[in-house]
Amino acid sequence: MKTRITEMFGIEHPIIQGGMHYVGFAEMAAAVSNAGGLGIITGLTLGTPEKLAAEIAKCRTLTDRPFGVNLTFLPSLTPPDYPGLIEAIIKGGVKIVETAGNNPAKYLPALKEHGIKVIHKCTSVRHSLKAESIGCDAVSVDGFECGGHPGEDDVGNWILLPRAAEELKIPFVASGGVGNGAQLVAALAMGADGINMGTRFIATQEAPVHEKVKQAIVAATELDTRLVMRPLRNTERVLKNAAVERLLEKEKSLGADIKFEDIIGEVAGVYPKVMTDGDMEAGAWSCGMVVGLIHDIPTCKALIDRIMGDAEEIIRGRLARFV
Ligand SMILES: Cc1cc2nc3c(=O)[nH]c(=O)nc-3n(C[C@H](O)[C@H](O)[C@H](O)COP(=O)(O)O)c2cc1C
Repeated sequence: MKTRITEMFGIEHPIIQGGMHYVGFAEMAAAVSNAGGLGIITGLTLGTPEKLAAEIAKCRTLTDRPFGVNLTFLPSLTPPDYPGLIEAIIKGGVKIVETAGNNPAKYLPALKEHGIKVIHKCTSVRHSLKAESIGCDAVSVDGFECGGHPGEDDVGNWILLPRAAEELKIPFVASGGVGNGAQLVAALAMGADGINMGTRFIATQEAPVHEKVKQAIVAATELDTRLVMRPLRNTERVLKNAAVERLLEKEKSLGADIKFEDIIGEVAGVYPKVMTDGDMEAGAWSCGMVVGLIHDIPTCKALIDRIMGDAEEIIRGRLARFV
């Protein structure tokens, strides 16, 4: 399949694996890229320029296809060494960066100067237009269904994607809640040039996470995610567990007075415990409503082939019969 996204990134299929904390290591990115999609290493998980450079070098030994690096810009008192991370990306010869969080304008000149394509993750049309105006090459439009941070507008992809199509000139991918070929076709029909998936890629053979995480995703239904940190205007969609229930109780009892320090036990330092150690009750970890559509743990290649095969069959078969 050829779209503006496959052309822009030099990939076979219009399927991107979004950056994921403690999931987006070289093994994950390479598996997706080898399967014809675009794999992405999560920069902040590595943390330092040296470690990111080593992960990029490792990924190069695992694939000769294009892959990207995610840079998530978070407000922080002690920000990560973003210029150093960008230098590692440039020196590592990576040509695609997925940015997320704050406006990436400050870092665009350095990336552009080295011919790096930037896809910025946005949860609203206004942020998407901003990304377009500052020179991003593409946008990943993240609907309310998504795992991770859906923003505070609560607009689902059924509305958000066609709205993005009305306004944007640069290509965009549909992100949030996507896990199968029918959804890829729907996304294309609504104006997207591809899809971005997070949660679905965690339940794959190659995802470098504890087996218990994959099993939890397969066992969960679309009713099993919760929104946390809304009172802090830092809403995150996570899989429910005992820690999440505790966190929600605190949000209820403390109301508008709640501070980040009140919930630090449930949200700080959680990812290595969950993803690496398989301690499923350690705290709140991002997970999308698409868990309801995930019933197996295929290889990345089997997953991507299935999505593309189903999409083609739907376009040539079911849809063609309607006209
Ligand atoms: C476990 C997990 C960790 C994530 N970590 C990040 C991250 O560090 N930076 C980022 O930009 N997005 C992160 N995301 C969001 C994904 O890149 C992607 O936008 C989102 O998962 C799409 O929704 P889906 O899970 O419904 O496919 C994370 C998502 C998950 C599920």
